[in-house]
Amino acid sequence: MHAIFEQTEAAVRTIRESWKSTPRVGLILGTGLGGLAEQIEQEAVIPYEAIPHFPVSTVQSHAGRLVCGKLRGVPIVAMEGRFHFYENYSLQQVTFPVRVMKALGIETLIVTNAAGGINPHFELADVVVIEDHINLLPDNPLRGINDDRLGPRFPDMSHPYTPSLIELARSVAIQQGFACPKGVFVAVSGPNLETRAEYRMLKLMGADLVGMSTVPEVIVAAHAGLKVLAFSVVTDLCLPDALEPVELAKILEVAARGGAKLSKLIPEVVTKLGSAG
Ligand code: HPA
Repeated sequence: MHAIFEQTEAAVRTIRESWKSTPRVGLILGTGLGGLAEQIEQEAVIPYEAIPHFPVSTVQSHAGRLVCGKLRGVPIVAMEGRFHFYENYSLQQVTFPVRVMKALGIETLIVTNAAGGINPHFELADVVVIEDHINLLPDNPLRGINDDRLGPRFPDMSHPYTPSLIELARSVAIQQGFACPKGVFVAVSGPNLETRAEYRMLKLMGADLVGMSTVPEVIVAAHAGLKVLAFSVVTDLCLPDALEPVELAKILEVAARGGAKLSKLIPEVVTKLGSAG
């Protein structure tokens, strides 16, 4: 069955009715990190329910709309609110918006998320650029018959996070006065946070960050041949021997602090992408 391709085309047709530009960049805004959308010179704002085949967001901290317009003059499409495996969506549903953004014309996908910091050097509200990932979700968005129009059967994963973009982001962060370390992100299904024993295991595996999103979208972006830049904001410290209970309200407050840094960093990165021809 090749339904994704046709469903993507239907979604693109609907978006095109209210927005004609070709975006260069797609942006997925994570939990508590929606503030960046305010900087977009908005040309069309489309609620997810108006787009055929788009899942509808159920998390309260996610708005659930596609913001289309210009960021520092660069045409961009931003997802305010994303979908998670723990909400009972299939990974094909979770990643459908990435297919749609690719079909709209994006070349680069920028992803943000709120994550637990496993690396003991990380501090609350740190912005970390993701350099690689481990998929511990019990599924893969590419499972099933491959549609060659979307990408290859066995996509390469040697560099799913574009090395030149990682370096660009780090140098812009330094210019803006903060360090943006690199980290390996592990995706877990949630919705519960991890036990102390699980955090110990994830650290042993080589993970620096843990979260419940991003990896499915990045797998699909790699399948689609997109360049990828992804950031985590460290919202809680996963220190197995000094673990404190987390509350969503605290996570959102810390996310907002890290989000303020991302709201300076990402527009500058997008400007540089825009001037890179
Ligand atoms: N674990 C999983 N997901 C998360 C965490 C965490 O500690 N923090 C924010 N998202």
